[in-house]
Parts: sequence; structure tokens; C-alpha cells
Amino acid sequence: MTSLQHSSSTPPAAARSFPAGFRWGAATAAYQIEGGAAEDGRGPSIWDTFSRTPGKVLGGDTGDVAVDHYHRFRDDIALMSDLGLTAYRFSISWPRVQPTGGGPLNQAGLDFYRRLTDGLLEAGIEPWPTLYHWDLPQSLEDAGGWPERDTAYRFADYADQIHAALGDRVGQWMTVNEPWCAAFLGYASGEHAPGRREPAAALRAAHHLMLGHGLAVQAMRARHPEHRLGAAVNLYAITPASGSDADVDAARRVDGMQNRFFLDPLLRGSYPADVLADVAQLGFDECVQDGDLAIINQPIDQLGVNYYSRFTVTGEASETAQAVSSPFSSDSPWVGSEFVGFVDGGRPVTGMGWEIDEGGLHEVLTRLHRDYPPVDLYITENGAGYDEVLNGEGTVHDGDRIAYIDAHLRASHDAIADGVPLRGYFTWSLLDNFEWSWGYSKRFGLVHVDYATQRRVPKDSARWYAGVIRLGGLPERA
Ligand code: FCB
Repeated sequence: MTSLQHSSSTPPAAARSFPAGFRWGAATAAYQIEGGAAEDGRGPSIWDTFSRTPGKVLGGDTGDVAVDHYHRFRDDIALMSDLGLTAYRFSISWPRVQPTGGGPLNQAGLDFYRRLTDGLLEAGIEPWPTLYHWDLPQSLEDAGGWPERDTAYRFADYADQIHAALGDRVGQWMTVNEPWCAAFLGYASGEHAPGRREPAAALRAAHHLMLGHGLAVQAMRARHPEHRLGAAVNLYAITPASGSDADVDAARRVDGMQNRFFLDPLLRGSYPADVLADVAQLGFDECVQDGDLAIINQPIDQLGVNYYSRFTVTGEASETAQAVSSPFSSDSPWVGSEFVGFVDGGRPVTGMGWEIDEGGLHEVLTRLHRDYPPVDLYITENGAGYDEVLNGEGTVHDGDRIAYIDAHLRASHDAIADGVPLRGYFTWSLLDNFEWSWGYSKRFGLVHVDYATQRRVPKDSARWYAGVIRLGGLPERA
């Protein structure tokens, strides 16, 4: 493998240099990259079941093989070294290490994460595991899944055991990834596993995901008080389509469910009153027991921010207002008789159709700093997906991705200059991989993967990102 770092000479000073110790990373998740689905005692997860259900994933794709990281992790660590990454965010597959979601750990599965973390440490790359990136053991879903309170306790037990096993070498831990997606795409819109369409259950799932986070933090904190613990949430910048009362209220609702419903309990120990009122008819209060909010509001050391886009929201139904799938669709009990829709904000989009707005990242970061108790922030995901093919030279000139990441890093730098305690940036993703319901059709990697041969080819963005890391920042724009 040729090094992505062009020369050993001293790089020119970055005009926009990031603080010393800033983590330069890339992120992945177990089901999206590992493969090895039936190996070494791994149990089935809800994503194995969901991806096998006809019509759920584009092209009928599954994560059975994915990018075979389970067998190729050493090569992938070498790629990370070539990039100069200082940190790598990955997730631990719960069904690989605890196949039925209970009982002692599966040693063979655990050994994979021992080898992976040892390999990273040998390469001087800090391991950043996430304990739950959506692959719930199927047995736990069979028992009711995240809408059941017991799942939070099962998660805490799994977290505790993994932490006992790897805590000697790993000091950075993220509990849950994007509880909004796990709860609402999984249990309300049904676009993600387990594919249920039960809005009341989705709310309970959200509460139990956060309860599981709090219980896991308590267990890990008790064992290693010096470890740095947190969760990763997906946050959006949200704008009303106009100044009309209906649009402003729709934006409040979406911001409430998407952002504040998670940030408030995690960082303030309370649910936002307006959201509780919005969902009152769904009986949400009944699942919140005395003491739960104090558990969820455990002190954390860091919050992971996954940022991709801005939503422009309307409360006025029209032909162009797309009533995005439940939980916000017009016929969803989430919003009662109110219409909530999403409109074109007039910005360029990525290959996912997601509007590109780096200003939204700055807005999200400065809002967190202004409105919530102080906590170190990390961008734990940010990136752009496209339908890409290797060109005649056998590479990918992904200038769009470079422009996307460059713009978001500049916005991050601005946020730091504005006093935001942003400590690191992990781009999504290191490798092309299984993009959930989109299957393998959308590519987010810095590194292209040929799914037939598993050959990895760094894209232009990989070389560019290696240069940014080497420089410790960005040159001023020409
Ligand atoms: C996030 C997920 C991640 C990836 C990106 C594109 O919502 O956390 O796994 O699919 O979107």
C-alpha cells in the first residue's frame, strides 16, 4: 500500500489550525462493515432479520459479508495509519459478544475486539468504541425490543461486561448511537430494523435507549472513573419555511422530537414540556419511572454530534411539502391534527438527497454550547454519500466529498473560535459500506471498496484528508 502521506518534509503551517490534541478520526459501525455474520458464535441481530425480509433493503442486500472487516481488520488498520488517523470510531456488535443479549460473553467474539483494539493501539490510533449502533440481538427483539424496559437493563449488563473485558486498553466509550434513529426509524416509520410502525412503542424505545445509556455510564464510571464516557446523537439544524405561525410551530415540533427530546434528558435531566404535550395522547409518561431522568442525566464527559444536514419545515400542507415518513407524517399521532412537512431549502444536495449546509453545523454546535451545560463535544459523524464508480484510472475523484468535509471542518473551526469546546472530528466513513435500507447503493467512504473482490482503493478524499491531518488544519481558501 502506498502511503497517503506525501512527504516527510515539514508541512506548511495551517492558516486554520485545530487545537493540539484535536482528534482526527473516521467512523464505521459493526453491521455495516464486519460481515462474518455467522462466525465464531455470533447470534442474529434485528438487522439480519430485517435485511432478509423482502422489500426492506434496496436490492435485498444484507450485512452477511459487508466489507469483510472481520477478516481484513489488519489491512484496514494499515489504511488508517496511512491516513494518519489519531482515533477510530467503530461499534461493538452486541450479538457477536453476547449472542442472545444475556448471559456471559462469547469469548470468540470478544477476542475479535481484543485483536482490533490491540492492533489500533499498536498503530498509535485511539480506539473509540460505540456500544450500540443498532444491531440489537434478535432474541431481545423477540422479547419486545427497546419498547420493553428490561432491554435497557440487558444493555447495561452487556456494556458492563464489555467494559470489564476491554477497559484495561480502551478509555473512550460511547454508549448509544443516534437513539432517534434506533427508536423512530426502527419502531415508528419502520424504515429501519425491526421495522415496526408503532409510534407509542417508539417513544418508549427512545426512553429505554437513554435509560440504557445512563445505566451503562453508571456501571462503567464505577469501574474506571477516569474513562471518558458519552453518547452520540444525530442533530439537525431546523428552519421554518416561513415566518407563519404554522411553519414556526412545525419547526418547534421537529426540533423538539429530533433534538431536544434527547438533549434535554441527557444534559438537563428533563424532557421538554412542549414535546411532552405534543405526545401526551400516546401515554409516554407511563414508561418514565421515578429516578429514570436522574439515571439518564448521569454526568458525561463528552457528547458525540452526528451532523449531516438542515431541515426546512412547514406546517402548511401543499403539493411541494413532503410529509416525511412517520413520526412526522401528517397522519401520525405524533403531530395530532397538525401537518408537519419538509420542503426544499434550495441548497445543493449530496447523493442521498440531503441538503448541504455547513452553517447548520456551526448553528448546532454553538446552540449546544449556549443552551446546555458545558460538555466536551466531538463530531462523531459527518460526511457525504454518493453513487460512485471507479473511473478508468481505477480511482474515484470525489471532489464533492472533499468540498463537503472541507466546508464542515471550516464551520467546526469557526465554532471553536467562538468558544465551543469541540475536541475532535470523525468523518463518516472510513470505508464504503452497507448503508442500512439503501444497501450498498450509497457510498460514504474515504476508501472505495469493490464489493466483489473486497479490494480497497483510497479515493481522492482519503489523500486530501491525510493532508489535513498532517497539517493539523486547513489552508486559507485561495
Ligand atoms: C447515520 C448512521 C451511520 C450512517 C450515516 C450515513 O445516521 O449513524 O451508521 O449510516 O448515517
